[in-house]
Amino acid sequence: MTQSSIKHVSSPLARQTLQDGALTRPVAGVRPIRMLPWLQVVKIGGRSIMDRGAEAILPIVDEIRRLLPEHRLLILTGAGIRARHLYGVGLDLGLPVGSLAPLAASEAGQNGHILASLLAPEGVSYVEHPTIANQLAIHLAATRAVVGSAFPPYHHHEFPGDRIPPHRADTGAFLLADALGAAGLTIVEDVDGICTVDPKGPEGAQAQLLAEVDAAALAAHAGPLPVDRALPEVMANARHLEQVQIVNGLVPGRLTAALRGRHVGTIIRSGLRPL
Ligand SMILES: Nc1ncnc2c1ncn2[C@@H]1O[C@H](COP(=O)(O)OP(=O)(O)OP(=O)(O)O)[C@@H](O)[C@H]1O
Ligand SMILES: [Mg+2]
Repeated sequence: MTQSSIKHVSSPLARQTLQDGALTRPVAGVRPIRMLPWLQVVKIGGRSIMDRGAEAILPIVDEIRRLLPEHRLLILTGAGIRARHLYGVGLDLGLPVGSLAPLAASEAGQNGHILASLLAPEGVSYVEHPTIANQLAIHLAATRAVVGSAFPPYHHHEFPGDRIPPHRADTGAFLLADALGAAGLTIVEDVDGICTVDPKGPEGAQAQLLAEVDAAALAAHAGPLPVDRALPEVMANARHLEQVQIVNGLVPGRLTAALRGRHVGTIIRSGLRPL
């Protein structure tokens, strides 16, 4: 009689709970592979760039067009003013965070469609999240860049606590860039970087640019920030990205310089430690 081995699948995690870090660490504690180590991820601000229309978008599109021979890009767009209007109406009606998140995400997608349309002559298209998850490599073997929504698809699983979805475009862009093992993430804003206070706020005259900041220090920063509050929290557990750079997309050449590895904005250092 032949013996079936089907019930005897051996696995280093077979006989233990996944709740005990001491047991899982030897198996799960190693650094994951870099899937797309040549990829540069660029997040384009919804409010800071896309909402400004042609005046801000066309120069950025020109700059991206010139960058294409040099880099392979995943361009991700934020949500901007339409999502803020939507939050206003939805909150007024009492909608839960899990209902607001997918609606805001669709606004980020709209901005992506706009940007992709402008780059279409260069072979750039908008791709949905399942394509980014499973078919990014083949798309970027066929073309130099694709555009997607920067919003992470937590949707109706969005974490409760805050009525405004806490995981927005910056967090989504970082999660993707780190999971893919990308070469870098550049966040494009309408300010030179992160300042001690909002440079456009009432105390703007005192604002000082932070050339570099640790994610942990940013998480503890009391005032407003030009990036999601969840970004520095997620960065504390980075597996690949040691830093993210915030640059001013209204200044021609800043994005190009950042992608060439130059320090031209604020660098946020993640909590990445060598294993
Ligand atoms: N500490 C700070 N340093 C620099 N800018 C700040 C700071 N606090 C607030 N801001 C403001 O944040 C603005 C950018 O807003 P925000 O980050 O919401 O836009 P966005 O990134 O384009 O939006 P989205 O996340 O929808 O893509 C800047 O124009 C600036 O006025
Ligand atoms: Mg921002």
